[in-house]
Amino acid sequence: MIAERTISPVQQAIDWESLREDFPILHQKVHGHPLIYFDNAATSQKPRAVLDALGRYYERDNANVHRGIHELSNRATAAFEAARARTAKFINARSGDEIVFTRGTTESINLVAQAWGAKNVKPGDKILLTEMEHHSNLVPWQLLAERTRAKLVYLPVTGDEGLLDLRQLDQLLTRDVKLFAMVHISNSLGTVNPVAELCERARRLGVVTLIDAAQSAGHLALDVQEINCDFLAFSGHKICGPTGIGVLYGRQELLDAMPPYQGGGEMILTVDFHKTTFKKAPHKFEAGTPDISGPIGLHAAMDYLDVIGRENIFRHDQELAQHAFEELSRLKGIRLFGPRTGRAGVVSLLLKDIHAHDVVTVADQWGVALRGGHHCTQPLMRKLGVESTARASFYFYNTREEVDRFVEVVQEIQKFFGT
Ligand SMILES: Cc1ncc(COP(=O)(O)O)c(C=O)c1O
Repeated sequence: MIAERTISPVQQAIDWESLREDFPILHQKVHGHPLIYFDNAATSQKPRAVLDALGRYYERDNANVHRGIHELSNRATAAFEAARARTAKFINARSGDEIVFTRGTTESINLVAQAWGAKNVKPGDKILLTEMEHHSNLVPWQLLAERTRAKLVYLPVTGDEGLLDLRQLDQLLTRDVKLFAMVHISNSLGTVNPVAELCERARRLGVVTLIDAAQSAGHLALDVQEINCDFLAFSGHKICGPTGIGVLYGRQELLDAMPPYQGGGEMILTVDFHKTTFKKAPHKFEAGTPDISGPIGLHAAMDYLDVIGRENIFRHDQELAQHAFEELSRLKGIRLFGPRTGRAGVVSLLLKDIHAHDVVTVADQWGVALRGGHHCTQPLMRKLGVESTARASFYFYNTREEVDRFVEVVQEIQKFFGT
């Protein structure tokens, strides 16, 4: 177990192979082949430390939070709030009061679009997005724009190499933009966007910023004070935590000024037949019984990742992705998407005359779990002139040997289809 190891990220090389022992699910065969799990951008696997934390909670401490005054409820409440404080530390927020627990990145962004958006966005205002946004950071803003008669504008992507065209920023990021929402790491392209620089440019014009950190939170060290964003969203399940738990970071002044998102129990101070007063942020945004085991599992996941060190994880992701990109580039009849260098652990590809779904279906027969489709970035796919891609996405428990095997499997697929 990782807690018994003494990995010092700076002084000692990490035995990546041995970390695999913490993940029971990785040790299985799929269709007679050792599983190679390359669908980490969709969801990560969970280490034993997280599974144990969830088991312990349900076996010993399970009770509803905040309202009880018995021992189990006190323990559950303490664990729930400790997870909030841990999350603040994980992204260097100023305090736990800046951390709202949600169901995931999607709900975090919807919360901002509804609670902040309804109050701050007026007809004719602009919302700036990029062309590489996941539907989660696009559809909520479209809904808001429809409600408020605001206008959506997009910072373009350059083409297959998948960079933001920053030359167009001055023209698009203007004073009538109310909010600039951007993805940190693209789930389709592996691009790492210069979010601190973009937030700085926005701040100079008084534009509020939101970072979609779904693909970055578990892969690189995040510091919301350094990035200097106003909001940041991520999901527990992509960073070794359970599904159903997500995080919204919001700058304290903004959260305090926002109306509640949903109404119900837990988020109120007093309720009369005609009038309710609300708790302070973050509690006013957490109506009803929350996911309690989720933050507890997330806490264990954050501890686990930080023993390895997210700088080390990012370096490992990048090495695997660069290796995959270089090896795949040697093949004929392949189209690769995303930056040539400096990409995160995502490689998207298309094989000539073979549908991405066929690539994924045949790869599965070899035990390789990929993802094929539009990756919830349909506008980006359309811009690139494709319907879908096959995507391999890596995490720290993946190895160079797995990447080599994947490249062999891609060649097998080309042979199978005779291309
Ligand atoms: C970049 C990005 N944003 C948002 C999301 C949505 O995350 P969730 O489905 O956990 O809310 C994803 C999920 O794949 C993603 O990759």
